[in-house]
Amino acid sequence: MIMQRTVLPAITLALAAAAGSAFAAPVNYKTPDEVAAFKPGPNLEVVQGNCSACHSSDYVATQPPMKDKKGFWQAEVTKMIKVYGAPIDDADVSKIVDYLAATY
Ligand code: HEC
Repeated sequence: MIMQRTVLPAITLALAAAAGSAFAAPVNYKTPDEVAAFKPGPNLEVVQGNCSACHSSDYVATQPPMKDKKGFWQAEVTKMIKVYGAPIDDADVSKIVDYLAATY
């Protein structure tokens, strides 16, 4: 009888879902605006151009406090390029690291 206890509610739920979809009117839904943004600072546009393609700026904003900001961000940007294949020009790396170390 253990089976019935778990299977019956599942069937009831499935039927309720099927019935619900049969009578559901079309729903207009607007997704919320993207709110994550890089903070203003020098070389912001270089960072936006190079760091927005794969993930949001939340990845940058949610890092824990660090002692050596420059070293941390240098390693982070290098990792994005070497490990994840981010196509970032060598010339832009120091601009990005300076921005991140000064702003985050
Ligand atoms: C080619 C895609 C790509 C680009 C471009 C990219 N990243 Fe990432 N990034 C990733 C991936 C993949 C992860 C790991 C995602 C996960 O673990 O969920 C990541 C994770 C991170 C993290 C979280 C910590 C970590 O090491 O996993 C930070 C911080 C970060 N990226 C910063 C940056 C910055 C700064 C730039 C611009 C210089 C950048 N990313 C550009 C792919 C990219």
